[in-house]
Amino acid sequence: MRLDRFLSMRGIDSRKSIKKVIRDGRVQVDGKTVYDFAMSIDGNSVVVMDGVQIQNEPYVTLMMNKPEGYMCSMKDEHYPSVMNLVPENYRKRVRMVGRLDNDTTGLLLLTDNGVLNARLASPKHGIPKTYHVEVNHILKPELEEAVKYPIDIGKGEVAHVDSLTILDEYHATITVHEGKYHEIKRIFGKFSYDVIRLERIAFGPLSLGGLSLGTCRLLTREEYFSLLASVRLRQEDLL
Ligand code: URA
Repeated sequence: MRLDRFLSMRGIDSRKSIKKVIRDGRVQVDGKTVYDFAMSIDGNSVVVMDGVQIQNEPYVTLMMNKPEGYMCSMKDEHYPSVMNLVPENYRKRVRMVGRLDNDTTGLLLLTDNGVLNARLASPKHGIPKTYHVEVNHILKPELEEAVKYPIDIGKGEVAHVDSLTILDEYHATITVHEGKYHEIKRIFGKFSYDVIRLERIAFGPLSLGGLSLGTCRLLTREEYFSLLASVRLRQEDLL
């Protein structure tokens, strides 16, 4: 990875002023002052700026259990952003992977790996997402069969459900892989149900597990590599 990109991804400064910082001789790589902002560094390089070693960990990817009432946008007049729940040292670095509605809870990924983010969000890669749903009236068993066919969800869009399992009268799990706007609410709406609670419990190979509502954690190495593999990436492709 280029040195200027490495520094900007760590939220050091804007790309333009990073170039100046490097030209001014304020950055050392592996003990030597460097002036070439395009020089290539890797996961083993020791990068020091103004005498302070910059954390050279690989990309940061976090899993959040998003609570209700938080927006998946940077700023909103009425509700706080989910970014407020991200530990401060990562807040400037990471971006959300897709969005959840204000009233949806559950698994939200945030990463500073732009390639990974784009692939996870792209319908081309069709990452499966599983939701736990509560509806406003009794679920009919026929629904499990009905969703096996393409569903016209309005505005010229058709949804495809990978699977739906009715858990009890008012609860079901549903897996989709397209990520259309308000997809789950529109699918259930088509069959005259209002979704009264929606929680994302899995994203690709990752599950929410016991992560407490409103908290974030870094992915484990295994989770991170399985996420890369789910969109046909390898760590080496990203350096
Ligand atoms: N589908 C919805 O309707 N809302 C979400 O937040 C996610 C999927």
